[in-house]
Parts: sequence; structure tokens; C-alpha cells
Amino acid sequence: MDTTVAASAPITVRPSAEADVPAMVAIYSHHVSNGLGTFDPEPLQDDDIKRRRKNMLKRRLPHLVAECDGKIVGYAYAVPFRKRPAYRHAVKHSIYVHPDHLHSGIGRLLLPALIEACTAEGFRQMIGYVDAENLPSQKLHEMFGFRRVGLLEGVGFKYGRWTDALLMQRALGEGATSLPPERPKPERPGSGQPASSQPASSEPASSQAASGGGYSRTT
Ligand SMILES: CC(C)(COP(=O)(O)OP(=O)(O)OC[C@H]1O[C@@H](n2cnc3c(N)ncnc32)[C@H](O)[C@@H]1OP(=O)(O)O)[C@@H](O)C(=O)NCCC(=O)NCCS
Repeated sequence: MDTTVAASAPITVRPSAEADVPAMVAIYSHHVSNGLGTFDPEPLQDDDIKRRRKNMLKRRLPHLVAECDGKIVGYAYAVPFRKRPAYRHAVKHSIYVHPDHLHSGIGRLLLPALIEACTAEGFRQMIGYVDAENLPSQKLHEMFGFRRVGLLEGVGFKYGRWTDALLMQRALGEGATSLPPERPKPERPGSGQPASSQPASSEPASSQAASGGGYSRTT
């Protein structure tokens, strides 16, 4: 796949579309095989990312791509921090930049856009698991207000050795200083039903995220 982009081409961050999936798989597959950024054991298939993406959009979780000169040069998304209902106001996230375009300013556009989108959806905490040796990711996260809140020792086993994971966290919006807006509880496993049928009291501000409009940003 040709990934060259015109040097002066602007980078746009927008909600992902299904047509972006092959490009996201290519980016992810590179990092699975070469990098510190992922804990998945093997490359994903298009269908895996399509399914994950649909699940996230159903839960109003932002899923963004960075596009430059018509090419997908990075992506970032949020998933529930944990499945139990008590954790429904917290997300964890991932961010991947195309290997041919690392350290060219894409992460510093994608991460704040994801923070903004998660905040607009009413989430209150954002958590990243970052390999303890992944300095670029740690620096990027610190740049956008994430703090190191813990170190999980020896939790990963990659390339024949144990790895540590840093937990990095930042509050979104009012964080834990006020009560959260009501948010539908996640489905109980196996029931196909939400744990609570109570409607959300406030419409999430970036509801366009699921439909593909909303937060885009251009350099
Ligand atoms: C981590 C990652 C998302 C950063 O995105 P990026 O587009 O390369 O980063 P940017 O160019 O926007 O740089 C933003 C800041 O991150 C840090 N950074 C990025 N690349 C770096 C590098 N190679 N060495 C040191 N710091 C680096 C710097 O502080 C940089 O600020 P600066 O430009 O003032 O030096 C990207 O390197 C990546 O996709 N890595 C592989 C996958 C991965 O590790 N994902 C994160 C999983 S937690």
C-alpha cells in the first residue's frame, strides 16, 4: 500500500468509517509484529476490527482516524475500562500511528481529539496501559495531562521476555468532582439486555460520533 503523503498536506482527524478498516488493520499489524504498543498476540483480521468498531459505536465510544492526503495515517479509540456497571463512566483507549509517519505530529492531534470526544460523551476518566519501555507513548500521554498512577510488573510476555505496563490516567470534564450524568448500564453478559433500562438524562453531546459527524480537526 502506498503511504506517501504530500509534505504540506493537512492532517484531518475524523470519526472512522468501515472503509477505513483495512488501513487500520495494516497499521495495527505492523505494531503487533514490531512494537511495544500492543499486547495482542497476533495480527487482527479486518472482521475483528469491524466487529470491535461496531460494538464501540453502539456504546457511543469514539473511534477516530487521522487522514492525510486521502490516506489513513493513524487511529485512536476508546473502550469500556471494565465491563462491570460501576466502571461505566471510565474508558481505556488505544492509539496507533502509521509506521511511516511516526513522530510527525499525528499522535498529538489524535490524542486530544479522542480526549475531547470522550469528554463530550460524558465519560469522566480515561486510562491508558502503556508498555513501561514505550517512551514515545509515555511522553505523548504526559503532554496531554495523563499521570502515571501505577506500574503493573511482569504482566506482559512479549518477544521472549516479561514486560511491565504503566497505568496512565487523566480525568475528563469534571472528573470525580461531581456526580456523573446517568448513562445506560452495559449489558449483562448473556442476557442481551441492559442491566438498567433507565434512560440517559442527558443526550451525549457528541452523538454524531456514532453516526460519523462531529469532531474533526485539521492542522
Ligand atoms: C506513541 C505514538 C502514538 C505517538 O504518536 P506520534 O504521532 O509518533 O507522536 P507525535 O509526533 O505526535 O509526537 C508527540 C510527542 O510524543 C513524543 N514522541 C513521539 N515520538 C517519539 C520518539 N520517537 N521518541 C521520543 N519521544 C517521542 C514526543 O514527546 C513528541 O513531542 P515532540 O514532537 O515535541 O518531540 C506512536 O509513536 C505510535 O503509534 N507508536 C506505536 C504504537 C504505540 O505504541 N501506541 C501506543 C500504545 S499505548
